[in-house]
Amino acid sequence: MSLSYYDALLPVREPVDGLQDVMAGLRLRHRVLASICVPAGRIVVAFVSDSARLSRMFAANWARAGTDQEPDATLYALARPARRYGLDGAWDGARWWSRDQKVMAVFGFTSYRLAKVCVRGICSAVSNDDIVFLHGCALSLGTGNDRRGVVITGSSGAGKTTLVAGLLRHPEYPLTVLNDDWGAISLSSGNLASTGERMLHMKSSSVLTLRPGFFTSAHPGSYSPDLSEPDRTARMLVSPETVYGRAWSTSATIVEHVAVVVREPAGWLPPGRRDEAVRELESGGDVDSLHHHEAFFNGSLILMGEEDKLREERHFRRLLDRTTVSWINNCGTPETLVDTFISAVIK
Ligand SMILES: Nc1ncnc2c1ncn2[C@@H]1O[C@H](COP(=O)(O)OP(=O)(O)OP(=O)(O)O)[C@@H](O)[C@H]1O
Ligand SMILES: [Mg+2]
Repeated sequence: MSLSYYDALLPVREPVDGLQDVMAGLRLRHRVLASICVPAGRIVVAFVSDSARLSRMFAANWARAGTDQEPDATLYALARPARRYGLDGAWDGARWWSRDQKVMAVFGFTSYRLAKVCVRGICSAVSNDDIVFLHGCALSLGTGNDRRGVVITGSSGAGKTTLVAGLLRHPEYPLTVLNDDWGAISLSSGNLASTGERMLHMKSSSVLTLRPGFFTSAHPGSYSPDLSEPDRTARMLVSPETVYGRAWSTSATIVEHVAVVVREPAGWLPPGRRDEAVRELESGGDVDSLHHHEAFFNGSLILMGEEDKLREERHFRRLLDRTTVSWINNCGTPETLVDTFISAVIK
């Protein structure tokens, strides 16, 4: 079995020493404050780093919070190994998360993709109990009084972007997109909020799926390649309007439906009761696998112990209680995938 990105991530561990004090001893020149919208509020995350490139990307990605804001959490992204800062090499073996101080520190931090994963995990960890963050695309289907929120979730590579791109080619089913790949839902009100990202960090292949001919039509200032990746053409920061055009809308909506895209053999039977569905989501749709890298279809979560897992399970039970769930098995062509979704969710 090939190693997924999430399998290869350093584990998250709780530091023994005061992490904030250790970080305070380092000279880190860049500090950017991001504001991440959630229903009825926002989370402020400070990104502190000695990497000018990653700091610039972070600032381009997120809406800025005022510099006088007290952050809800801080991510220290240290570009070099720990010894280069005069620290013990053992610091290199994990991503360190202090749940008391709301501080994460990672050494040898050179990839923006890692910044994204860490920010997602931190947001889930520091948000209040009314919020669940979902990996996937948040849509508003229909218009006027018929408008209803749908979230398309599923593990990496399940076919979420393929499905959304296919739906956008059906003008008879009007829809708007308010989150491309991740965002928060209020469990009490069902409100879906747009994260407020100014630029999205996307795979170039996903951009091309959604907007064929992107590189010939996009304004050069509307995107920038992610130069922190070994393959410098693989990912980019891109404005959501450039990818989605008029289908992009940040107005909040109420989630009514959760569509879970899976890739299973034809004839696969979806889980029945709510608790079975939660178990399936928790296992990332892969109960037999040794790799549980995408628990709850979300490889970013900070799951350090039983309590973290139980909290997430509770959130998903509440989400499934208030929504209709459709399991969309992507076992045919992309066209069949779209048809299956339309029959299950729209018609
Ligand atoms: N039914 C299908 N037939 C053939 N190829 C498919 C099908 N569905 C998806 N793919 C291919 O699988 C890959 C992953 O699909 P896609 O990017 O839509 O997944 P995703 O769920 O959006 O993943 P991620 O969470 O990483 O964004 C793409 O290369 C896509 O073209
Ligand atoms: Mg995708």
